[in-house]
Amino acid sequence: MTAGSAKDDYRSVARLHESLLEAGLLALLGTSFLSGFYRYLASSSDAFLFAAVQDKDVIGFVSGAIDTKSFYRTFVMKRGIQTVVGHLAFRVANPSVLRRIVSIRRHMVGGSATNNLPKAELLSLAVRPDMQRGGVGHALFARLCNEFAERHVDRFKVVGEARNEASMSFYRAHGGTPAGVTDLGGLECNLYEFSVGAR
Ligand SMILES: CC(C)(COP(=O)(O)OP(=O)(O)OC[C@H]1O[C@@H](n2cnc3c(N)ncnc32)[C@H](O)[C@@H]1OP(=O)(O)O)[C@@H](O)C(=O)NCCC(=O)NCCS
Repeated sequence: MTAGSAKDDYRSVARLHESLLEAGLLALLGTSFLSGFYRYLASSSDAFLFAAVQDKDVIGFVSGAIDTKSFYRTFVMKRGIQTVVGHLAFRVANPSVLRRIVSIRRHMVGGSATNNLPKAELLSLAVRPDMQRGGVGHALFARLCNEFAERHVDRFKVVGEARNEASMSFYRAHGGTPAGVTDLGGLECNLYEFSVGAR
């Protein structure tokens, strides 16, 4: 998808993210924020977004960044921290939510667990529940790898919630090498590393 793609498509991506990727910080920010975030991501030269579409409906999507740390820094610089804080303000009264946000933010800008890992990252991948186990995730993953290859990225990482068996199996089935564990807002997460072209 590009910045010029239909507004409804970004909303569909945002809704899928919100309902299926609840473990991250972004899902806390709501559909409206996520729609804008993905529009920004698709227009960024440091990142990309691909959607799987069937009968004009978005049934899955994948996004990646060439350098996650730099991508999020530029996003905050261009969009302003106020945008994020504004979307979060009504949720931070709960200390456990605040702790979760601080720890996830640390990961986004590069924590010690990711220091030796590639800068490039699979940021998000989701397939509509009724379309899962039909190869859509596989096709999106292949598209992501092609994009990394075209951009001369030979390794990338992904972080996923350890108890999310579907994603753990998916990453192992796609050649992911375990690269450590990290705590993301109180959730135990596994890091995987991939070599582009090694699948
Ligand atoms: C992870 C996810 C994207 C996989 O998408 P998908 O379209 O169902 O995946 P595919 O059909 O291409 O599966 C490819 C392989 O991954 C593995 N896999 C996928 N889902 C699995 C599951 N629920 N249990 C076990 N293995 C699974 C299998 O090896 C599968 O091959 P097979 O069907 O021949 O056995 C999907 O389950 C999803 O959207 N989950 C919710 C969001 C999420 O957790 N995203 C990942 C974190 S960023």
